[in-house]
Amino acid sequence: MTEQAFFELRDVSKSFGGLSVVDRLTLHVDEGEIVSLIGPNGAGKTTVFNLVTGIYRPASGEIRFRGRNVAGLPPHKITQLGIARTFQTLRLFLNMSVKENVMAAAYGHTRSTMVEAVFRLPRARREEREIAELAEEKLAFFGPRLAGYRHDQQAYNLSYANRRRLEIARAMATNPSLLLLDEPAAGMNPAETHELTELIGRLRTDGGYTVLVIEHDMHVVEGISDRVIALDHGVKIAEGSFDEVATDDRVVEAYLGRQGPG
Ligand SMILES: Nc1ncnc2c1ncn2[C@@H]1O[C@H](COP(=O)(O)OP(=O)(O)O)[C@@H](O)[C@H]1O
Ligand SMILES: [Mg+2]
Repeated sequence: MTEQAFFELRDVSKSFGGLSVVDRLTLHVDEGEIVSLIGPNGAGKTTVFNLVTGIYRPASGEIRFRGRNVAGLPPHKITQLGIARTFQTLRLFLNMSVKENVMAAAYGHTRSTMVEAVFRLPRARREEREIAELAEEKLAFFGPRLAGYRHDQQAYNLSYANRRRLEIARAMATNPSLLLLDEPAAGMNPAETHELTELIGRLRTDGGYTVLVIEHDMHVVEGISDRVIALDHGVKIAEGSFDEVATDDRVVEAYLGRQGPG
């Protein structure tokens, strides 16, 4: 039968109020790959991430990660198995420090009980130290952008681009092997976008992550992708190299059909 993929969706469907949003979607990502998911607004891209991370349960189909069907598992289980994501609308704690934001993301993974943490029992103290170190390590990945004095700055004070970087650091905090990035370049200027393209490459080479990224900026998509998958109305309409997908008639049509305000 089929060889076991690192990550795959098989015939996954989801509808809301009778409207089909993801329609028998099949796709895979190999270990170490960087794959982009593109498509016009409303194509169902974020819903795919919500299905994969357990926010929604698919009506049918399988979501397989390292040989296991994770469809319908609760979000924390899926995180534990090694999938983490960023959100299109950032989920930062703006009144917490940069480092605390990453630590908070890591906390779900520690073994201390609430009682131990509240009373700062030895195991909780040790874990807090370990988590602080882990947060520093993840933040170091972003170089001077999130280094030094920035660790103690409130997230509120960060530029928009740095908030997007911090969102990625938070996803890294759970030590995933598969990173799902939802529009990481949104709101970035061209220089920041260029830097992000490099960063995503480093997530693979230095970080060892496999990456599935939703992105609208075609410079980014071209710069990072081993493969591109295009969705429209929840259906896969094209898949292949950037050049193949960008020139595909159905893809061009899907984007032209949705042009205009909004
Ligand atoms: N929780 C929900 N309830 C109802 N409709 C939803 C929900 N989530 C997404 N949708 C709808 O599903 C479609 C796809 O949305 P989404 O996955 O966010 O698209 P994309 O990320 O490609 O822009 C949209 O029409 C959106 O309104
Ligand atoms: Mg979206």
